[in-house]
Amino acid sequence: MLAAALAAREHAHAPYSHFLVGAALEDVHGRVHTGCNVENATYGLTVCAERVAVLKAISEGVRDFRRIAVAADTETLTPPCGACRQILWEFCGDIEITLVNPRGVSETMRMKDLFPRAFDASFL
Ligand code: THU
Repeated sequence: MLAAALAAREHAHAPYSHFLVGAALEDVHGRVHTGCNVENATYGLTVCAERVAVLKAISEGVRDFRRIAVAADTETLTPPCGACRQILWEFCGDIEITLVNPRGVSETMRMKDLFPRAFDASFL
């Protein structure tokens, strides 16, 4: 999973920030759905690696997920942005999430700890 996230990072389209991110999302069948950040000249249309991975999987009919790995080249490991946390919670719930950098430093946590007191369908 960590290698898959690091490999996906190599596909990042990040000519504006030069900040390359990769994600690898494993479903309950063991299939891995990867994503990278895809930036746009209008900046605001940029999509993060995590959301690309989730939306790719959802668009293929996959609904149940086990864990996700997110790769970026930072010493302090890069966590998902707020928008991605909300999307991950919506589709993946309290999955395991591992942050990793190219030096192999990693940290694993649960989404409920990264995204406490989330707003979700239970309120509707
Ligand atoms: N980015 C991600 O893809 N995922 C994250 O978790 C943090 C930020 C991207 C968005 C943008 O292309 C670049 O990193 C800088 O914010």
